[in-house]
Amino acid sequence: MQTLRLNAGQVEEAAAVLRRGGLLGIPTETVYGLGANGLDEGAVGRIFAAKGRPQDNPLILHIPSADRLERYCRDIPAAAYVLAGRFWPGPLTMILRRKPLVPDAVTAGLDTVGMRCPAHPVCRAILAAADLPVAAPSGNTSGRPSPTTAADMLEDMDGKIDAIVDGGPCAVGVESTIIDLTERPPRLLRPGGVTLEELEAVLGEVAVDPAVTRLMGAGEKPRAPGMKYRHYAPKAPVTVVKGAPAQAARYIRRHIGDADGVICFNEFVPLFEGHPVEPIGPAGDPAEHARRVFDALRYFDGTDVQRIWAQCPDPVGIGLAVSNRLNKAAGFHIVRAE
Ligand code: TXA
Ligand code: MG
Repeated sequence: MQTLRLNAGQVEEAAAVLRRGGLLGIPTETVYGLGANGLDEGAVGRIFAAKGRPQDNPLILHIPSADRLERYCRDIPAAAYVLAGRFWPGPLTMILRRKPLVPDAVTAGLDTVGMRCPAHPVCRAILAAADLPVAAPSGNTSGRPSPTTAADMLEDMDGKIDAIVDGGPCAVGVESTIIDLTERPPRLLRPGGVTLEELEAVLGEVAVDPAVTRLMGAGEKPRAPGMKYRHYAPKAPVTVVKGAPAQAARYIRRHIGDADGVICFNEFVPLFEGHPVEPIGPAGDPAEHARRVFDALRYFDGTDVQRIWAQCPDPVGIGLAVSNRLNKAAGFHIVRAE
């Protein structure tokens, strides 16, 4: 099929694609999504086909405001409304008990559903115009880094979706934070743009799912089904080097092979002359690392580097999300520069 390119002003055309059961590339503040009518099983099925996504990996629903929660969810705890008041619209997905109206195709048969109210103005305009809950995973082919520009998404999805709306580069750059509110204490399933520290300030205690910080064992069943798949895996193996930035950079300099590439903080680019280098921002700017990390990983898929060495911010604030994505890309292959 021919994938129609829409601009940010073509909101009606975009909403029409959703209403007729089509697939729409949709900008959000986190990453681009692959959207479809979340109440249309056929349309939802086409999302899985276009991505090559395993059927047991549920999708999240995008809504324009918290007052829609009751249409799709039941037993909603007060904390959901407190979080919505504080962080919606924004990069936070809440796992809640679902109502029967939500198709099994969306939830992969689970009794819960992920709900998100995005902040991107173009996305919000499309949600309002379509007047539908939009099921949307990240717009990448399964196993590739999430797209943070329309061009990145077209690299994976050109010819497989009906249309894409170009809303510019994503402001956050990593996917939404996922918090499971069906458990006590609430559980962080995926770190993202809303930080763990911010959630703790509102909720008190928050459990951090083990899949956030380590590789899941073969027999373990993660709470977010998506976490058992090795997401964001570039072609070349990745080694994450932790430690003080200058030490980590020197460690990479000592160990780098002739055909290796580097993801590093801007300050250290000159150390790696002659190697393919993807800078992800100054050492002290984890929000910039978040915006650039997926593009850096994607870049190396187009090269034939043997190995990728990556510097990584401390796992605090949004740095936890960046660190989680890099660790996952590395299959949790992490070394520490002493
Ligand atoms: O920022 C985002 O959240 C982006 C944009 C497009 O909104 N979307 C996104 O969707 O990242 P996706 O499908 O790529 O990641 C959603 C994750 C998956 O790991 C999935 O397994 C998990 O959420 N998930 C979905 N529903 C769930 C549920 N009911 N219980 C636990 N985990 C769930
Ligand atoms: Mg994804």
